[in-house]
Amino acid sequence: MARIAQIFDTTLRDGEQAPGCSMNLQEKLEVARRLEKLGVDVMEAGFPAASPGDLEAVKTIAGIIKDCSVAGLCRSLEKDIDAGREALMNAASPRIHIFLATSPIHMEYKLKMTPEQVIERAVSAVAYAKKFCGDVEFSAEDASRSDPDFLCKVFGAVINAGATVVNVPDTVGYAMPDEFAKLIGYVKENTPNMDRARLSVHCHNDLGLGVANTLAAAAAGADQLECTVNGIGERAGNASLEEIVMGLKVRKDFYGIDTRIDTAQIYSTSRLVSQVTGVKVQPNKAVVGENAFAHEAGIHQHGVMANRATYEIMTPESVGIPKNRMVLGKHSGRHAFEDRLKDMGYTVEKETLDAVFMEFKVLADKKKVVSDRDIEALVMGAASSVPETYK
Ligand code: KIV
Ligand code: ZN
Repeated sequence: MARIAQIFDTTLRDGEQAPGCSMNLQEKLEVARRLEKLGVDVMEAGFPAASPGDLEAVKTIAGIIKDCSVAGLCRSLEKDIDAGREALMNAASPRIHIFLATSPIHMEYKLKMTPEQVIERAVSAVAYAKKFCGDVEFSAEDASRSDPDFLCKVFGAVINAGATVVNVPDTVGYAMPDEFAKLIGYVKENTPNMDRARLSVHCHNDLGLGVANTLAAAAAGADQLECTVNGIGERAGNASLEEIVMGLKVRKDFYGIDTRIDTAQIYSTSRLVSQVTGVKVQPNKAVVGENAFAHEAGIHQHGVMANRATYEIMTPESVGIPKNRMVLGKHSGRHAFEDRLKDMGYTVEKETLDAVFMEFKVLADKKKVVSDRDIEALVMGAASSVPETYK
């Protein structure tokens, strides 16, 4: 039987931290509603202590969203946790998310704390939050550059103080998939009372490995996966929700893991986040990019027309894209060209098709993509092919 991995979406918090991605209240609300429809298990709505506006946004979202948990991020400080408590007061299922760094470099240069002080602070923050909220997540910032035994010690201590989720962030996107999987396995094995908490991962994309690390961690036993829509986030971004979810779905034979995401909502959610943030999705972006289901090469077009599975490992419909796309360019073949003519209402004799196809190839050498208008112009030049409606 497949196990379920929870999807923790942080588009509205870590995603919003990407340069130029901040959203106003209305925009955050719209995205929050869409995330709820998408079926995320947890949405991190913001960082309540960061600004009065963010506190207000988390509060408003918490009051409206009913079908998933709503989380607010807090430093390990009572004033942050108080802001989180206020923001989440009306949530149906609130989660306070506390973080503190555990790597030597962060503890020495940023926190100026000893490892013992870090454990003490983490425990007291979790215990404080636990007074107001049953569901408390603790993130060991920069976990992938932390000493694994120290990490297990911190996690054991916060679980003892009431943490329900312990999160292993690859904060600076430094980990490699095999290494990260090993770390997750080690934490699972060596953290005291790990059976009392969920194990989560949160991967950044500085080396382009955010999704690979997340999937490797899922295979190694992580049961909550943190991510953002379109992979937006600090610097090179976070692991992308759509790639993780479709990776698990398409390769369920390999992972044996399900999520509760309604994948047919993926594309519309991606479009909304792109419109609201103004950050375009690159055309070749996996799953949701403009070219993700476009075929130009003749051999591919021919294959897809015979059987879609030849070059499509998932259907566009499964992610909410109505149809794949045959792009006509210099690599396209006769079959796709003829098909497009039919779609446009032209029935042409073989000789005309030969002639127009030759002209199309000459034009395609000069242009990146041949449009329907170009094709129309070519066909209009061949009188016998003009459809009734054009006569
Ligand atoms: O990247 C990170 O370490 C974070 C934590 C606050 C979870 O975003
Ligand atoms: Zn992060």
